[in-house]
Amino acid sequence: TYVVTEPCIRCRYTDCVEVCPVDCFHGGPNFLVIDPEECIDCAVCVPECPVDAIVPDDGIPEGQEEFLALNARLARQWPVIKAREAPPEDADEWAEVDGKKALLKE
Ligand code: SF4
Ligand code: F3S
Repeated sequence: TYVVTEPCIRCRYTDCVEVCPVDCFHGGPNFLVIDPEECIDCAVCVPECPVDAIVPDDGIPEGQEEFLALNARLARQWPVIKAREAPPEDADEWAEVDGKKALLKE
């Protein structure tokens, strides 16, 4: 499966959701996740993300391993998102910020 990682938090550009052939993105308040039971590993979403937040499960950056389980858990909690939505007004200001995990809203 592919996994949405920390750079998505507070950026939430949603460019990724429109290209997914199986609609496996689920949207929360300031982050998106991929349902690992639906993702078919096509990778077409990867280049769509302006902040490179989407990675394969065997390529998760060091220190972000928890995002694998987090995607699985929140995919069951949040609704499917299929259409692009406006990102937060300050999304660009958060694009280069590290250590955003504590800012994730469930
Ligand atoms: Fe959807 Fe393919 Fe991305 Fe998986 S890898 S989330 S199936 S676009
Ligand atoms: Fe997040 Fe990137 Fe999609 S910021 S919403 S994973 S385009």
